[in-house]
Amino acid sequence: MAEKWTPDSWRNKPIQQVPEYPDAAGLAAAEEQLRSYPPLVFAGEARRLKKSLADVAEGRAFLLQGGDCAESFAEFHPNNIRDTFRVLLQMAVVLTFGAACPVVKVGRMAGQFAKPRSAPTETVNGVELPSYRGDIINGDEFTPEARIPDPQRMVRAYNQSAATLNLLRAFAQGGYADLHKVHQWTLGFVADSASGERYREMADRLSETLNFMAACGLTSETTPQIRETDFFTSHEALLLPYEQALTRIDSTTGDWYDCSAHMLWIGERTRQPDGAHVEFLRGVGNPLGFKAGPSSTPDDLMRLLDALNPENEAGRITIITRMGAENLEKKLPALVRFIQREGRKVVWACDPMHANTIKASSGYKTRIFDHILNEVRAFFAVHRAEGTHAGGVHFEMTGRDVTECVGGSAAITEARLGDRYHTACDPRLNAAQALELAFLIAEGLKEERSVTHQRAVAS
Ligand code: PEP
Ligand code: CO
Repeated sequence: MAEKWTPDSWRNKPIQQVPEYPDAAGLAAAEEQLRSYPPLVFAGEARRLKKSLADVAEGRAFLLQGGDCAESFAEFHPNNIRDTFRVLLQMAVVLTFGAACPVVKVGRMAGQFAKPRSAPTETVNGVELPSYRGDIINGDEFTPEARIPDPQRMVRAYNQSAATLNLLRAFAQGGYADLHKVHQWTLGFVADSASGERYREMADRLSETLNFMAACGLTSETTPQIRETDFFTSHEALLLPYEQALTRIDSTTGDWYDCSAHMLWIGERTRQPDGAHVEFLRGVGNPLGFKAGPSSTPDDLMRLLDALNPENEAGRITIITRMGAENLEKKLPALVRFIQREGRKVVWACDPMHANTIKASSGYKTRIFDHILNEVRAFFAVHRAEGTHAGGVHFEMTGRDVTECVGGSAAITEARLGDRYHTACDPRLNAAQALELAFLIAEGLKEERSVTHQRAVAS
């Protein structure tokens, strides 16, 4: 791709999922406003994440990416941020301690507002209105006024992201994430669940280990790795006027970075190699992801890798598969083999959510927990068989006690979906379900390690 890239070169490319703002002057004014605001992240932090992801690509670490399907203005509350953060911490500890594998933690947080939609309009009782596209674009109330894209929503989303990120940084670096607090991260409603019990046992063992380390002189005071953690942010780079306005030149390298988040990904609906979203992201230095659905071919992946990572830099690209368990078993082996044969460096991550969305008879959009487990299991099995690293997972989850996905040890039934169904978009795992998955993943990672070890011994 020899054409010159500029932060606005995407504007000359075909674009999908674009909202139509009736107020063009208002849009230009909001973009101008955002351009004058401080970046949300530093380029140096994005590079640090890329380096950690290079470790994942090379099989030495695991990527844990999760958070809301869509953040919303209505659910903006410190307790929601804290609760999602602490479940991610718990999951990370299960993986780090349970599978002895370093975990790279990335939230779908502090910027995950824009949503691609399968149809541009929605019809209710014979009334047709534009679809809701996420709080950064329009409102989800079913009225003509709410559904008009409002550019000032970008400014509000920026401010909410800044405040969210500020709290996340404080939690990660300010003592909340200290491993000595491992017991305190358990949310009340999780404590009584089967995974809560399992977590308590593991946390006891971790506490013992920390006591032993303290006796050896390794404490929170002497060892920052015990006291604090790295936590990164990510979202789907869907609303390009917003992303462009936050794209800045890094003064230390002279390169462009999208400073709205550390990592950005391209969704299943906007990954056309010649389209606007790929054009925009190819020019920024951040680590990137793209989704790979059941129709993905080796050629699709290659074209995206050529466009987004021509230098084949490890850590730059995460391929997030979202196929459903059966499709994954059938299609992933050929993709993995192809990428291996071509020597491309990628992180393979599994999103077990987006191919498993169904409509319950009650009308709620839901996901069956067993289907999610099956896709994660299939992901590990394929990588084990191919001798490649199952690099990470990508979840829609929340720390709240919601009833949005059916199943899990708390056995949420279809009839109970209405009890606490709060999502602004897709159904999320609740904290107990997320923790249950973390234990399954730890087992998958342990098996991968023992297979790799056996192969090394045999060769
Ligand atoms: C998402 O991650 O919320 C999403 C819309 O995913 P996909 O692009 O894979 O459908
Ligand atoms: Co979603």
